[in-house]
Amino acid sequence: MGIVEDEIKRSQAQIRRLLKERNAVMLAHNYQRDEIQEMADYSGDSLELSRKAAGTDAEVIVFCGVHFMAETAAILSPQKTVLLPNLQAGCPMADMITAEKLRKKKEELGPDVPVVTYVNSTADVKAESDICCTSANALRVVESLDAERVLMTPDMNLAKWVQRNTKKKIELWKGFCPTHHLLKPERVAELKAKYPDAKVAAHPECAPEILDLADHVCSTSGMYAYAKKDSAMRFIICTESGILYRLRKENPEKEFILAAEDMVCPNMKVTTLDDIVESLTEMKNVITVPEDIRVRAKLAVDKMLAVV
Ligand code: 13P
Ligand code: SF4
Repeated sequence: MGIVEDEIKRSQAQIRRLLKERNAVMLAHNYQRDEIQEMADYSGDSLELSRKAAGTDAEVIVFCGVHFMAETAAILSPQKTVLLPNLQAGCPMADMITAEKLRKKKEELGPDVPVVTYVNSTADVKAESDICCTSANALRVVESLDAERVLMTPDMNLAKWVQRNTKKKIELWKGFCPTHHLLKPERVAELKAKYPDAKVAAHPECAPEILDLADHVCSTSGMYAYAKKDSAMRFIICTESGILYRLRKENPEKEFILAAEDMVCPNMKVTTLDDIVESLTEMKNVITVPEDIRVRAKLAVDKMLAVV
């Protein structure tokens, strides 16, 4: 074992010890660094992690992801201590909308247009929304509403994807994820030409021109299911690089090609094992949500979790 591997193992052992001492559960998003995913109690997409956060009986949740994910855990479980090991882990898409701007938009659209907000948003934006969604359930959430017109925030690409699959009229907010939105269709077309046997899996945060080239559009965890089930031996993956860890681990005989090398979300990579050790040791970087906002945001998240 090299020095780096040695250090990783040492930090992981220290974290395991601290998790036990603190009666804590460690959740990791599918984009986290390999060594974090490797040791998490649960890894998953936003929907799976929200469900885990809602259902755990641990006293402390260490959320290895970005701020809005830890905030969602705090919304669902106010009696638990939620730690975000590195406070720099934000989400630029979540910052593309504010509660104030959303209130203005709601006034413009009137009361007959419910607001569906992607969980990639702040608690006060969730509090202004009728229901939340994730990339795994966006279409089901929209279809569950008794309305012909719906406003989807903040991701315009997810909204456009839903619009392709529903008869309802989708109004959109012009937010986007830089990591996904900047992927060029020419790049995917080039890879398809080079590997004609490969299947393309894309996250719905990618632009419509990318989704046009995809064989399958799904959430991050949806990609694991697809890669396992499909008979193809090679896949072009249009989402953040962290997804490769489990794809390769679970399908050693298959090949996974990241559509572009720069599909790396800096926010998802900022958290390190050292941050987790520090946060658990000092019980620092606790995420809380003001009670009046939390209660209203929880209604939107709970409604989403009730949609099967
Ligand atoms: P998933 O819910 O598909 O894991 O996506 C979360 C995310 O931040 C994608 O950029
Ligand atoms: Fe936000 Fe995009 Fe990073 Fe996901 S990948 S956390 S949407 S910036």
